[in-house]
Amino acid sequence: MTASRKYHITTFGCQMNKADSERMAGVLEDMGLQWSEDPNGADVILYNTCTIRDNAEQKVYSYLGKQAKRKHQQPDLTLIVAGCVAQQEGEQLLRRVPELDLVMGPQHANRLGDLLEQVFEGNQVVATEAIHIVEDITKPRRDSKVTAWVNVIYGCNERCTYCVVPSVRGVEQSRTPEAIRAEMEVLGRQGYKEVTLLGQNIDAYGRDLPGSTPEGRNKHTLTDLLYFVHDVPGIDLIRFATSHPRYFTERLIRACHELPKVCEHFHIPFQSGDNEVLKAMARGYTQEKYRRIIAKIREYMPDASISADAIVGFPGETEAQFENTLKLVEDIGFDQLNTAAYSPRPGTPAALWENQVSEEAKRDRLQRLNRLVEVKAAERTQRYANRIEEVLVEDRNPKNPSQVMGRTRGNRLTFFEGNIEELKGAIVKVKVSEVRAFSLTGELLDVPALV
Ligand code: SAH
Ligand code: SF4
Ligand code: F3S
Repeated sequence: MTASRKYHITTFGCQMNKADSERMAGVLEDMGLQWSEDPNGADVILYNTCTIRDNAEQKVYSYLGKQAKRKHQQPDLTLIVAGCVAQQEGEQLLRRVPELDLVMGPQHANRLGDLLEQVFEGNQVVATEAIHIVEDITKPRRDSKVTAWVNVIYGCNERCTYCVVPSVRGVEQSRTPEAIRAEMEVLGRQGYKEVTLLGQNIDAYGRDLPGSTPEGRNKHTLTDLLYFVHDVPGIDLIRFATSHPRYFTERLIRACHELPKVCEHFHIPFQSGDNEVLKAMARGYTQEKYRRIIAKIREYMPDASISADAIVGFPGETEAQFENTLKLVEDIGFDQLNTAAYSPRPGTPAALWENQVSEEAKRDRLQRLNRLVEVKAAERTQRYANRIEEVLVEDRNPKNPSQVMGRTRGNRLTFFEGNIEELKGAIVKVKVSEVRAFSLTGELLDVPALV
């Protein structure tokens, strides 16, 4: 292969996919390929796909159709579908888009190099069998120079009745604390300032690893991991996602409170504010338990920011049950909430139930919920007015080049006038001058010593 070959990756879906894309980009660069911003200028095109809802899946097909056509003019174009649609559809994807060269599930991300070798030998390859994820020995090509994702657990063993993730991401596989720490140490040396530890159900971290404490508790929990990685030199801020209310512990809350690098932001999806719906979803907690968790977090960290995900129109959800979700949102006051209308997914139990909610009702509920979210976020954000916040500067404001942007410890996007060359990667104090529902504008208070 010649060094002039170019690749393009389009990533859909969640942070796990973003992290996988960065690793796959690393593999491609190791093979001598160069990034092409324009997909039409690339010789290797990779779609890293998401199938969490039907519209996410359909988006992939429309993108793919265009590139498949291009392949008729440019036969040496290599077309790859990776990620969750690849895992879900497997061979069927080849039947639907015969122009594809490689279909690979998320567990195979680290194997991209080997798989491509097979493709370059003239094979059409499908890699979707369940495997033990080999420790990542590749160098990811990370999008940011300031913040980085670090996977701590792959897969999910829950069986929420609406969700495709367990069937596309496989069973839980935790990385060892030593491997996680080693990756963070490299990041620290490279100048990264913030790490987000990733898992679909990060509270499950370690339950598949051997070893227990003298009291008989599993010695590898997320809480233990936070203590273990906390002093990694250079890394100043640590975040983690996604938390599951069923496993969230007071020990974890205490650790977040005690450990200065761990940011006071919690992403804990509740999905529904109604106990019957939660039961039908097989979530394993009640709305009362959820409220207790948030109350406990706020007891230790009154200013903590709380975000979550919620689904409206789950099969059988009545108007009154939906109103319980509104009530929960009203009472908790989220800083941010990702909302979605329920979408039946192949191979999930709830997709087969007969009590589906009409599209019209789903749309209506989604709109009403979103309106409330906006109102509540606008209320919550007022607490930032005129406050001095610590912000890690990540980049230029893409909409205003004289401004830079970063996030507060509470994960609120913040813009202010400043020079990115000077400030990138610095943690600075910013006086907030303008608050909006989901972002802030401020003024830089101190210019840091050279970083
Ligand atoms: N592991 C996380 C979230 C995984 S998926 C958790 O347990 O909460 C991200 C979000 O997509 C979910 O929180 C849920 O709100 C949404 N989601 C998942 N499946 C969905 C479906 N079938 N229809 C609509 N939204 C869905
Ligand atoms: Fe899906 Fe539930 Fe696992 Fe989250 S915990 S990824 S919603 S099955
Ligand atoms: Fe989508 Fe797969 Fe993530 S389905 S949300 S990309 S785990």
